[in-house]
Amino acid sequence: MTVFFIGAGPGDPELVTVKGQRLVRTCPVILYAGSLVPEAVLSGNVAEKVVNTAELDLDAIVALLADAHAKGQDVARVHSGDPSLYGAIGEQIRRLRALGIPYEIVPGVTATAACAAALGVELTLPDVSQTLILTRYARKTSMPEGEQLADLARHRATMAIHLGVRHLARIVEELTPHYGSDCPVAVIYRASWPDEEKVTGTLADIVGKVQATDIERTALILVGRVLDAEHFADSTLYAKEAE
Ligand SMILES: C[S@@+](CC[C@H](N)C(=O)[O-])C[C@H]1O[C@@H](n2cnc3c(N)ncnc32)[C@H](O)[C@@H]1O
Repeated sequence: MTVFFIGAGPGDPELVTVKGQRLVRTCPVILYAGSLVPEAVLSGNVAEKVVNTAELDLDAIVALLADAHAKGQDVARVHSGDPSLYGAIGEQIRRLRALGIPYEIVPGVTATAACAAALGVELTLPDVSQTLILTRYARKTSMPEGEQLADLARHRATMAIHLGVRHLARIVEELTPHYGSDCPVAVIYRASWPDEEKVTGTLADIVGKVQATDIERTALILVGRVLDAEHFADSTLYAKEAE
């Protein structure tokens, strides 16, 4: 018996890995994080128990996992995007280890990748940015020392900010001294879902543009010069004299 933490991808059910889909379709127990995992990802399952864990606390979730373990049933524990990012699987894994319940992680397509795809851009361009910072905005949750937005912004790397769209004005204020007010920024709502929305602009005008929409959650903020760069060197990857 194994608990499989499965990445459901960003929303489009075709963006689940073949392995993830196979497990969802064969595990007798499915627990899914309902707020961001579309029901379509669960299609074709033959599970005897399918539970949306959106309203459950950690104890209740662990009780369900322990119950499946006692019955020898594999569990598909389905999380949005890639489960290793802001998925709160760490605390579940800690409990599983303490209980001696085996688990495995099946990676998924993370929101950042889906947002880059929606914009049709590469996030790492030669001479523009070779680094991608994945972070979240935390107004109340404390961030570890050295990981405040201003600390990260000093690198001027491409940045993907999760869980922050409601605090966009504050974020823009913190980023602008480092990236410059003309730096391109995009806010992507529900990338890869049928109701996906993209708002693009600069740090100077993005707040007004997003205020004019009703985007309040499930959006990623992407910042960096890669978003509209025309001037960058070819990579060495496809150079005639490749290294
Ligand atoms: C709790 S985190 C989960 C991230 C997820 N594990 C991943 O790898 O994408 C939820 C946040 O991820 C971002 N997010 C998740 N899915 C998204 C999507 N389809 N489009 C845009 N942003 C998304 C939003 O910032 C959202 O508030």
